[in-house]
Amino acid sequence: MSLSRAQRVARYGGRAPRYTSYPTANHFHDLGPEAVVDALSRLEPSVSVYAHVPYCTKLCWYCGCNTTIRRDRSIGESLVDGLLAELQLLVPHMGRHRMGQLALGGGTPNFLTDESLRRLMAGIEEVFDVDDATVRSIELDPRTVEPTQLTTLTELGFRRFSLGVQTLDPEVQQVVNRPLGAKRLWNIAHSLRSRGPTSLNLDLMVGLPRQTRQTLDGTLRSVLAIRPERLAVFQYAHMPSMRPAQKLLERHGLPGPEDRDELFQHVVERLSEAGYERVGFDHFALPDDPIAVAARHGKLERNFQGFTEDDSRDLLALGPSAIGRVGRLFYQNHRDVTPWREAVDAGVLPVARGLLSTDEDELLGSLIKDLMCRAETTLEPLGPLRADVEERLTPLVRDGLVAIEGDRVTVTDDGFDFVRAVAAVFDARLDRRAHAPVA
Ligand SMILES: C[S@@+](CC[C@H](N)C(=O)[O-])C[C@H]1O[C@@H](n2cnc3c(N)ncnc32)[C@H](O)[C@@H]1O
Ligand code: SF4
Repeated sequence: MSLSRAQRVARYGGRAPRYTSYPTANHFHDLGPEAVVDALSRLEPSVSVYAHVPYCTKLCWYCGCNTTIRRDRSIGESLVDGLLAELQLLVPHMGRHRMGQLALGGGTPNFLTDESLRRLMAGIEEVFDVDDATVRSIELDPRTVEPTQLTTLTELGFRRFSLGVQTLDPEVQQVVNRPLGAKRLWNIAHSLRSRGPTSLNLDLMVGLPRQTRQTLDGTLRSVLAIRPERLAVFQYAHMPSMRPAQKLLERHGLPGPEDRDELFQHVVERLSEAGYERVGFDHFALPDDPIAVAARHGKLERNFQGFTEDDSRDLLALGPSAIGRVGRLFYQNHRDVTPWREAVDAGVLPVARGLLSTDEDELLGSLIKDLMCRAETTLEPLGPLRADVEERLTPLVRDGLVAIEGDRVTVTDDGFDFVRAVAAVFDARLDRRAHAPVA
C-alpha cells in the first residue's frame, strides 16, 4: 500500500544532500594550488565566473550563508583588491577565454560601493572576452541596495538580479531580524525594469517561526504583484551548531517537517495557479524564462548556485569559500577572509580543499544530475554498481517514489519532492548510517 504524504515526509524528507555537485563538497580533501594550475591548462574556451562577497551589514538570524558582519563598507575596497589579485594569479596559467556567465554572490554583493563594483567589473572583464551573450547576475539585499547602485549595475551590464525576500510578514521579519517593506521591494523591481530588459529572481523561505498559510499568502500577494521572472523557494535549513544565531529562532518555535512540507505545498500550488512552472525542486519560472524553456527541453543544469540553464562545464571561483570546477577538478578556496587574503598576498592561489573526480564519480554524477534536473535516469551504464543501486531503490519503488521499467528509473509525481532521497541511492560516497531513511 502506498504511503501517505506525512509518512513520505517522515521517511524521506530528512537530510539528503542537495547535490549541487557530485561528489558533494563534504568529500573534498586538502588540495594545493598545483592541482588547479594543472587543470587550468585544459580550460574550455567559454567559462563561467563566480565571485564571492563575504560581507553583510547586519545578520539575519536564519542565515546559513558564508558571511561576516561589517558595518564599515570601506573594507569592500580591500576585498576587491584581493579578488582582482586572485584573478591575476590565474591569468598566466589559463590564456584568453570567453566569459559566458558572471555571478556575484554573497554575503551581500551590494555591500560594495559603486566605485568598488566598477573596479571589480573592469578588472574581471579585462581578463576575459565578453560579448552580447555574456550574462551578468548579482544577488542583492533589497533592504540595503541603493538607487545609485541600481544605476551602476545596469551600466555595468547586469541584467539578472536576485533579491532576497524570504518573507514580507512583519511579525516573521521581526523574529528573524530582517525588516523589509513590500513597497521598497516593489520600487526596486520597478526601478530595475525601467532601465531596460531585466530578469528578476526573488528568494522566498518556508519554515521560519510564525509562518502560516496566511502569512505566506500575504507575502505571495506582494511578490506576485511584481511578477518576477523567477522565484526560488527554500526550505529553512536549521543548523545552530554551525550558525549559532539560528538558536535565536528556537524560542519562537520552528515548524516540524510535516507542517513545513504542508506550507511548502501551499506555496507550490499558489505559484502554479499564478502561471509559474516548477523548475527542479525549489525554483519556479514564468514559461518563457530561459530556465523554464531549458527545463521543458530537458536541458536544465545544476551547479553550485542551484538550478541553471548555464551549460558551461568550467566555473572559476574567486573569493573566500568560493567553489569552482575545472574539468574534473573541484576546488574550494579558504573559507575565511584572512587565510584567503594571506595566500593571495603571498602570490599563491588561495585553494584549500578539493577533489579530482574519478570515472565512477563522473558516471554517478551524470545520473544524479539527470534525476535532479529531469526526474529520470538510467541504470544501463552502472555495470557492477547496478545490483547495489537496484537493491537500494527497492523500498523507494515500494513506497511510490520511483518507477522502474527496464533500465529507466522515473521519479513519480509523488516522489518529486523527495528527489534528493532518490539521488542519494546513486551516491556511492554517502555515509548511509547518517542518512538512513526513517523506517
Ligand atoms: C547568500 S543569500 C544572498 C542574498 C542576500 N544576502 C540577501 O539576504 O538578500 C542567498 C539565499 O540563501 C537563502 N538562505 C539563507 N540562509 C538559509 C537557510 N538557513 N536555509 C535555507 N535557505 C537559506 C536565502 O533565501 C537567501 O536569499
Ligand atoms: S541572508 Fe543575506 S543579508 Fe542576511 S546575513 Fe545572510 S547573506 Fe547576509
